[in-house]
Amino acid sequence: MEIRKVGVVGCGLMGGGIAQTSAQSGFETVVREVSQELLDKGLARIERLLAKDVSKGKLTAEAKDATLSRLKPTTSLEAFADCHVIVEAIIENLDAKRELYSALDTLCPPETIFASNTSSLTIIEMAAVTKRSDRFAGMHFFNPVPVMKLVEVVRSIVTSDATIATLKEFGAALGKTVVEAKDTPGFIVNRLLVPYLLDAVRVLEQGTASREDIDQGMQLGCGHPMGPLTLLDFVGLDTTYYIAEIMFEEFKEPRFAPPPLLKRMVLAGHYGRKTGKGFYDY
Ligand code: 3HC
Repeated sequence: MEIRKVGVVGCGLMGGGIAQTSAQSGFETVVREVSQELLDKGLARIERLLAKDVSKGKLTAEAKDATLSRLKPTTSLEAFADCHVIVEAIIENLDAKRELYSALDTLCPPETIFASNTSSLTIIEMAAVTKRSDRFAGMHFFNPVPVMKLVEVVRSIVTSDATIATLKEFGAALGKTVVEAKDTPGFIVNRLLVPYLLDAVRVLEQGTASREDIDQGMQLGCGHPMGPLTLLDFVGLDTTYYIAEIMFEEFKEPRFAPPPLLKRMVLAGHYGRKTGKGFYDY
C-alpha cells in the first residue's frame, strides 16, 4: 500500500518528533492531542526546532513553512479517518491505548495500518481489541526523533508480511534505518540498553565511582554520546523504571529489576530533565 497521509496520535516529545519527521519527509500529517493546550505546546516545540534548523542553515525558511503546512493539528479523532498509517505515541497505559485503538478501528477503513510507538507494552495486547491485528505492528522511535536514525518495526505473532513491508518502506521514507524485532519486552534496543542503565545506577549505588566518572568512563571509554546517568536523566527515570518493571515481570531475571536507588529517586519525583532534577540538576 502506498502511504501518503499519516496520522500521529499524541504530540508530546515522541509524537511531536514523529509528526515533525513525517511532515518534513513530505507526508501530509494529522497530529492529535487531547486538549488544545497540549496541542499548542507540542506545535510550538516543533516550530522552535524547525526555526533552530533554519538559523543553523540546515533548513531553508521555505522548507520550514512547507513542513508546517503539511501538519494538520487536531483535537478530534475523526481527522484520522482517511490516513493510510496511524502511529500512536500516547501515554504508556494499556487501558488508554486499547480504548484509543478500539475507537480508531471503528473509524478507519480496514486497510489503514496501526503502529504503536510503545517501548514497553505488548503489541498483540493492543492489537487484540481491533479487527485488524494483521495490520497492526510496533514502530518504536528514539528520542530525539528528528535526530536518531533508527526505528524498530515490531512484528506480533499475527502481523502480516505485507504490513511489515509497508512499515519498513515508510520508516525508510522517514529517513530512518529500520530494524525488525519480535513482540518481546524491550524489543532490541531497550532489551540491551535498560540493563546497562540499571547497572550504571548499581555502580553509583555501590560507591564504585562518582556520577561524573561513571558518565565520563562510558562516554570517552566507549564513544557513547552521553554517559548512562546523563542518558537516564534524558530518557526519564520514571520511564526507565516503568520499562524495567515490565521487563522484570516478563523475564524474571534480576538484571531487569530496578535498583533501590532508582526506585527512591522516582518516588522522590526526581525524573531527570523533565522535572529539573535527576542524577544531575537542570
Ligand atoms: N530535538 C531535535 N534535535 C535535537 C534535539 C532535540 N530534542 N536535541 C539535539 N538536537 C540536535 C541538535 O540541534 C544538533 O543538530 P546539529 O548537529 O545539526 O546542529 C544535534 O542534535 C546535536 O545536538 P547538540 O550539539 O546540541 O548536542 P549533542 O551533540 O550532545 O547531541 C543528542 C545531542 C543527539 C541528544 C546526543 O547527545 C545523543 O545522541 N544522545 C543519546 C540519545 C539516545 O541515546 N537516545 C535514545 C534514548 S532511548 C529511547 O529513546 C527509547 C525509549 O523507549 C526509552
